[in-house]
Amino acid sequence: MTRDDALALDAVDPLAQFRDAFDLPKGVIYLDGNSLGPPAKTALARLADVGAREWGQDLIRSWNVNGWIDAPLRVGGKIAGLIGAQPNEVTVADSTSVNLFKLAAGALSLQPGRATILSETGNFPTDLYVLQGLAALLPGVELKAVDADDLPAAIDEDVAVVVLTEVHYKSARRWDMAALTAAAHAKGALVLWDLSHSAGAVATDLNGSGADLAEEEQRGFRQCPADAAPVCPELLDDRAIEVGGPTRSRVTDAHDSADAPTTP
Ligand SMILES: Cc1ncc(COP(=O)(O)O)c(C=O)c1O
Repeated sequence: MTRDDALALDAVDPLAQFRDAFDLPKGVIYLDGNSLGPPAKTALARLADVGAREWGQDLIRSWNVNGWIDAPLRVGGKIAGLIGAQPNEVTVADSTSVNLFKLAAGALSLQPGRATILSETGNFPTDLYVLQGLAALLPGVELKAVDADDLPAAIDEDVAVVVLTEVHYKSARRWDMAALTAAAHAKGALVLWDLSHSAGAVATDLNGSGADLAEEEQRGFRQCPADAAPVCPELLDDRAIEVGGPTRSRVTDAHDSADAPTTP
């Protein structure tokens, strides 16, 4: 392939127009995003406005006059379209690891008599560390990590919750969320999905998959219960252990510093 071939491909690339939306140093081709994409020009302008006007001038009034108090749900609503959820089902909170801890703890509390958290050995390392820590805190609870190929067969009547990352961070292998969720439900287990490498990258149908709980990096969402679909903040705080019934919740972290861009 020659440089002219590449330029010809660029000329018909439907995504080429978006290059100008980002503020990248001249000459830089940025392929190593590692959780830090280049800033969108609109995001930089918005950040400057939030800092100078909303924080600097409006001060504490910003919770009301600039809608800070509703930002988690407002931003979450914009994220919903990326993950196959309804706008009122998604919110932004904390970090991925903190959310994983809270949701896994909530899932365990919904599954009395079950003591296993099931995951795959190749799951994202911090996800496994968080689950190990949770298991160590709760007497009798055990984290069982198995090879991905062996995982469906490892779901048994002691599994309270299966915790997986839909798209693998290293191999890009993708779980069939609907099939795995159905297999878990058949054994009475809940499923908690980490969508860090899915949201915005692949079309994810969270509601269609029947998943119970999910979270993702850099954006945040939660949903529960699927049947009634109200927002259920209680699953994310201490009262989570009091929540009963077939609750479903999804959550992601709060790396967004301002409103997320409008989702397509
Ligand atoms: C799949 C996955 N899960 C969890 C995390 C941890 O995120 P955080 O550091 O925000 O807790 C990451 C971070 O890259 C990730 O890629």
